[in-house]
Amino acid sequence: MAVSERSVFITKTGAIAATVGSAVGLGNIWRFPYEAGIHGGGAFLMCYLLFIFILGLPVLCAEFIMGKGTRSNIFSAYNKLSPGKNWKFLGFLGILASLMILSFYSVVAGWTIEYSIGSICNNLDFSSAETGHNQFNELTTGWRPLVWTIIFLFCNFFILIGGVTKGIERASNILMPLLFLLLLAFCIHSMTMPGFGEGMTYLFAPDFSQITPSVLLGALGQAFFSLSLGLGCMMTYASYFNNKSNLGQTALTTAMLDSLVAILAGVIIFPAVFSFGLTPEAGPTLVFEVLPNIFHQLPAGMLWSTLFFILLFLASLTSTVSMSEISISYFCEVKKLSRFKATLISSAIALIGGILCALSFGAMSDFTIFGKTIFNLFDYVSSNILLPVGGFFCSIFVGWFVSRKFINTQMQGDKKSISGFTPVLVFFLRWICPSAIFLVFLNSLGII
Ligand code: PHE
Repeated sequence: MAVSERSVFITKTGAIAATVGSAVGLGNIWRFPYEAGIHGGGAFLMCYLLFIFILGLPVLCAEFIMGKGTRSNIFSAYNKLSPGKNWKFLGFLGILASLMILSFYSVVAGWTIEYSIGSICNNLDFSSAETGHNQFNELTTGWRPLVWTIIFLFCNFFILIGGVTKGIERASNILMPLLFLLLLAFCIHSMTMPGFGEGMTYLFAPDFSQITPSVLLGALGQAFFSLSLGLGCMMTYASYFNNKSNLGQTALTTAMLDSLVAILAGVIIFPAVFSFGLTPEAGPTLVFEVLPNIFHQLPAGMLWSTLFFILLFLASLTSTVSMSEISISYFCEVKKLSRFKATLISSAIALIGGILCALSFGAMSDFTIFGKTIFNLFDYVSSNILLPVGGFFCSIFVGWFVSRKFINTQMQGDKKSISGFTPVLVFFLRWICPSAIFLVFLNSLGII
């Protein structure tokens, strides 16, 4: 697509809704509680929030500036803004990360289809924590997850070949507020649970002695994953913003809503974990084992369950659509393929990765690399390594190599005044973000 033909999100709120749609997804509702659960709760939440606002927010602005200013995919954005070609590797890193994430994400999104259909047909037995656990194992081993992963990727494919503006914008506008309301309702219910106090203490009372290198790295990865940062996703989305979009406001709204949804998910999950006598350290299966127990207790439980899993499925779609856009825009704009071919290639790669990840819970559960199943490896490498590395270079690039005038123009939106925010942003991008990410890496390697 030539620059002039690029589609644009029609309205300002449409752009915000689509960005929030990309950020809010399984990362908040599935990944945040499981990461918080394996990393000690409150200590993790504190580091995560700190990273969202101190590192995530500036890097989000940096990606927005590059995308809106160049109206290009991640490859061309770096090329246009720097004379040399040395930054090209970041484009490949972004594509690699996006395809890895798409692979394991589709498996989890496949579970949401399984649970939606199970709820509609009233087939799920969650009368006790133990039956719930067995049911989860039954549903996620064998051939079923493969089928759901494939179906999910098909849905993703069909939305993607339809283009950017219409579908995503319209769907995000309606679905995200609905999901938010549903989460609020579950939070209120969570207050009535016997384990509410214990759950709240676990989530909100940080035990500083729990802050280990792995907690810091996990929180850093979660912050980047949750904000869809470090792989050029927000850059690509910002390339579809119209000129009047206010980047600072969009970034702040996204970061606040995104962390709020993660906190709400925590407030729903942890009281239930303690009420049902489960342990927070269950890992990726946590939410799928705990939530249905809550639904089971509610009047008209299957109805709530159906509604919740369908919305979660749709929230996953708005996220996978955004991550797929990275490789698609590359194939279309750099390799000059048709949108259909580009989408087909990206989906085919994700399908292979998705099948491997789905099998990690069944036939390939014993196959490990560095002690991790393929699912866990894809999750760990992409979120905890590739995304922070991408964010590190993006912040150095915008902080040191992009002119202040360019940054100012992009940040201004429809306001004519020069934003006083720019010098602070540049300071963070030059110094704070790169050094903090670097220190977390050194720390996790045991060097400091
Ligand atoms: N932020 C999304 C979520 O929280 C996941 C995502 C990661 C989307 C990277 C796009 C790119 O679910």
